[in-house]
Amino acid sequence: MKFGHFDDSRREYVITQPNTPLPWINYLGCEAYFGIISNTAGGYSFHRDARLRRLTRYRYNNAPFDLGGRYLYIRDNDTGQFWSPSWQPTRTRLDHYECRHGMGYTIIASSRRKIEAQTCYFVPMGENLEIWKFSVTNRRRQPARLSVFSSIEFCLWDAQDDATNFQRNFSTGQVEIADGVIYHKTEYRERRNHFAWFACSEKLAGFDTQRDTFLGAARGWDNPAAVERGKSFNSVAHGWAPHGSHHVKVNLGPGETREIIFALGYHENPADQKFDPPDSQTINKRTVKPVIAKYLDGGNVSAAFQALRENWDALLGVCQVQSPDVHANRMVNIWNAYQCMATFNVSRSASFYESGIGRGLGFRDSNQDLLGFVQMVPARARERILDLAATQLKTGGAFHQYQPLTKRGNNDIGSGFNDDPHWLILGVAAYLKETGDWGILDEPAPFENEPGSEKPLYEHLRRSFHYTLDRLGPHGLPLIGRADWNDCLNLNCFSDTPGQSFQTTTNKDGQVAESVFIAGLFVMAGKELAAIAKKRRQNQEAERCLAEAAKMEKVIYQHGWDGAWFVRAYDDSGKPIGSKVCEEGKIFIESQGMCVMAGIGLKDGKARLALESVNRHLATRHGIVLQQPAFSKYYIEMGEISSYPPGYKENAGIFCHNNPWIIIAETMTGNGNRAFDYYTRINPSARERIGQLHRCEPYVFAQMIAGKDAPTHGEAKNSWLTGTAAWTYFTATQWIFGIRSEYDGLLIDPCIPAKWKGFKVRRVFRGETFDIEVRNPRGVMKGVRRMVMDGVEIPDQLLRPSGGGRKHNVMVEMG
Ligand code: BGC
Ligand code: NOJ
Repeated sequence: MKFGHFDDSRREYVITQPNTPLPWINYLGCEAYFGIISNTAGGYSFHRDARLRRLTRYRYNNAPFDLGGRYLYIRDNDTGQFWSPSWQPTRTRLDHYECRHGMGYTIIASSRRKIEAQTCYFVPMGENLEIWKFSVTNRRRQPARLSVFSSIEFCLWDAQDDATNFQRNFSTGQVEIADGVIYHKTEYRERRNHFAWFACSEKLAGFDTQRDTFLGAARGWDNPAAVERGKSFNSVAHGWAPHGSHHVKVNLGPGETREIIFALGYHENPADQKFDPPDSQTINKRTVKPVIAKYLDGGNVSAAFQALRENWDALLGVCQVQSPDVHANRMVNIWNAYQCMATFNVSRSASFYESGIGRGLGFRDSNQDLLGFVQMVPARARERILDLAATQLKTGGAFHQYQPLTKRGNNDIGSGFNDDPHWLILGVAAYLKETGDWGILDEPAPFENEPGSEKPLYEHLRRSFHYTLDRLGPHGLPLIGRADWNDCLNLNCFSDTPGQSFQTTTNKDGQVAESVFIAGLFVMAGKELAAIAKKRRQNQEAERCLAEAAKMEKVIYQHGWDGAWFVRAYDDSGKPIGSKVCEEGKIFIESQGMCVMAGIGLKDGKARLALESVNRHLATRHGIVLQQPAFSKYYIEMGEISSYPPGYKENAGIFCHNNPWIIIAETMTGNGNRAFDYYTRINPSARERIGQLHRCEPYVFAQMIAGKDAPTHGEAKNSWLTGTAAWTYFTATQWIFGIRSEYDGLLIDPCIPAKWKGFKVRRVFRGETFDIEVRNPRGVMKGVRRMVMDGVEIPDQLLRPSGGGRKHNVMVEMG
């Protein structure tokens, strides 16, 4: 069953019923001001940091699940009936409903009793504000006398404190109302120099700023007293819950339409110019007024919307494919790239599964996210890399997370995730391959943000690599530390106390438990670092990296090969994990994917064998599960992984993030049929027809799909903010379509289903446009027989940009 459909020409997903199985959301904003918005206008907004600069309040895990948001009410003043044009919060039956989630905007349209309404929500480029462009049309034969009410609930900035510290917060709320604009200024009197404003383009019949007056005693959002009686109370919030509501009266003749613009914004004043007059407590509105005036003008709003569309044309225009598979096309061309930008922008902070108050930016996550967005915004990727490097420890280790506002390492979680440093090497490698900007390696970056400790980025990469060499365990494999990629494989934790963090509790000295996954990652990172060193003519260094990688490869053969697949790890007592000798968790996905991607076992058939084992033991029709058999009980020596009921999350769920590793591995061994089949199993667009089971949005990847041990096998959770976004995008574009950025150019090396007759790609690379047509007349899965660019034969499958922003035509013949 489906709940909508794709409109690819407009790059939109059209939701046709409001009660989707879960809130189906979109993101507003792509620079500093952000919001999440559901298909019924639920969600909230923030400036830069979802925890510390939250503009509007949101109550997570509510019932109904999604309640609270950017709401409007329409009231028919002749009958007193009122409803929400976005369905929530009144949930009044609508004669028509449609939500279009697009690139950075959401349009919700509906009609009831011949009153049509449409609201377009978006954030103009370069601004700290959001627009709700609302229009209402009377399709009746008689005139309609209507009232429109807006409604938002302000958050008192720090979302964590806002949700807990009521003894203080019920007494701090403050607002100002001036010229019909509602200003939220809680804590502005003391240490904040920012405030929020909420404005409306029309003359107001009234306003409310105190939530409980607007709603009335013991009422909810579905039946506010002000709306029911058809008249605002003009309440002025003092303490309690500051709120923003405008009341506009709209009289419409038959066929008549009225447009109303609502705008919600964030504004900062210089610390010494907060008040006007200076000795008052009144907000200085001199710099904000022109912004408000600009965006209450319909012409400016239309121009801003057009600019937003053009921005996305440019971002998505970097890579466009035309293949025989509609699902791959729309994910690569539209939604997967879009999701990659969302993960870049908000990392893992704000979604319906991330509350905005939890994690900062993960070191590991952010480096991997680069794989998905570097081609769209290389300059911002550069900045992100240098920020990440600046949090690195002198030992080469990394703070596991850093805070986006301060850009400093997060002490609460600290360091000791022993895979972390290698992702920096891989992130930088991806950046270099895309941009050819070798200068970044000489950029100075401090350690632990300590002024004076600056070293070139290249030195950071060297330390990342050496971090592992300094931390080898009894078998010569890397010590795992707190955890590796799998945050739930906590081999030094041994926790028996409820509530203890699995990730930061360490009861063992950490000198025994080892990770084969990190070993594979080390080999891969070592080869990249060698290639980078070689380009810098540091040949000795390159040799050394390769020698260490080769040594590690030997250790993997000796202690990390289990006969038919790669072992996963060794626990604190030296027993293998992910081996046939284990009772549960005999085979894990991560070491198969990582070791093969690192090139291990490609020559002697071990890679093939490992992938066949994955196919036999881990692949399901909904994707590849993380391990088998699932852990049926808690193993204190393994930690969080065994805390989940079988089939969920890291305990044998389909953890979509690492499915692409197997897909890449399959393409490396030339199996295009299977690679594409695996890709399709988790592709949300291909799963749209099983929406009732999948439940999450069909336009973005989810972190997890319940595995075969769960009663809900096939149900997705944790959509949007997941490393799956970057890895699936990278895999589809670079390994299936095989348009792969390399240090010296664009390598063309597709691995596709044998039945495909070919495909086309337009790729912008280092300022040049390549129009590539791949033909597959012999029905092969891999292998390029001939390649011609602008009439000239290319012998080595590598397109070398020649500078000057030229356009090229490339013909590729597989066979
Ligand atoms: C989740 C992991 C996640 C970790 C982050 C765990 O509860 O299962 O997927 O990486 O939390 O802190
Ligand atoms: C989600 C985390 O964000 C990521 O860092 C981790 O690798 C996976 N979970 C697996 O545990």
